[in-house]
Amino acid sequence: MRKPLLAANWKMNQTVAESLSWLAEFDRDAADVLDNQEVEAVFCPPFTALYPLRQAIVAHKMDILLGAQDLFWQEAGAFTGEISPVMLAECGVSHVICGHSERRTLLQESSEMISKKCGAAVAAGLVPILCVGETLSIREGGLTQEWLEAQLFESLSFWDGKSEIVVAYEPIWAIGTGQAATAADAEAACAIIRDNLREKGGSYADQVRILYGGSVTPQNAAELLSGSDVDGALVGGASLKAAAFAAICRAAFRENC
Ligand code: PGA
Repeated sequence: MRKPLLAANWKMNQTVAESLSWLAEFDRDAADVLDNQEVEAVFCPPFTALYPLRQAIVAHKMDILLGAQDLFWQEAGAFTGEISPVMLAECGVSHVICGHSERRTLLQESSEMISKKCGAAVAAGLVPILCVGETLSIREGGLTQEWLEAQLFESLSFWDGKSEIVVAYEPIWAIGTGQAATAADAEAACAIIRDNLREKGGSYADQVRILYGGSVTPQNAAELLSGSDVDGALVGGASLKAAAFAAICRAAFRENC
């Protein structure tokens, strides 16, 4: 049984002060769902908010995990502007998003770079949340499966088939557009991803959590999460409102019960 994982990807939003008040509101709204340990919630704020959020989480004994939105694969050195896995671990980070499509397209991150990032995360004891997904033209051209397989092949070259990873299926056409995939399309893509993981990880692939991401809202979460291979969600826009993200966690909890 895979425990649902709900990840809030705040992208370049929320100051430290806003993050702290968001956390307090979310803890009020979702504490009952998180307390029973049936779902896990991980927050991925900007780097600047990680340490203060960690202090608040520890001080208030919250059942909330912290994630980063990126990392660099070196431990230390002359890499201006980069953040190392060790620095994230020191801030109490447990997960890190790798290869989000915004980084692949805006910052030209290649699957080779993403694989190195994921490998460095695993080596530091962090769980990478590897993002894959197709553009609209790839989908309309009927090439989604081939695309996902190629992205996984290249981005997973670090994977030994048994270390903990999370994969997020994020169709690019659904991100920030209000046009979520249908539950059937999300399930079909997540099943392709799991089959692919099986080739490398054998039966361990059944333990890997595969998330859907792209315009998830409190209204569509239950349906999107109903697929047997969909183990949670990576939520952007809707996660900026604490009440909305709490409602998505609640939908995942109900879906799992
Ligand atoms: P969205 O973003 O929920 O705003 O579509 C998802 C993501 O980019 O991870």
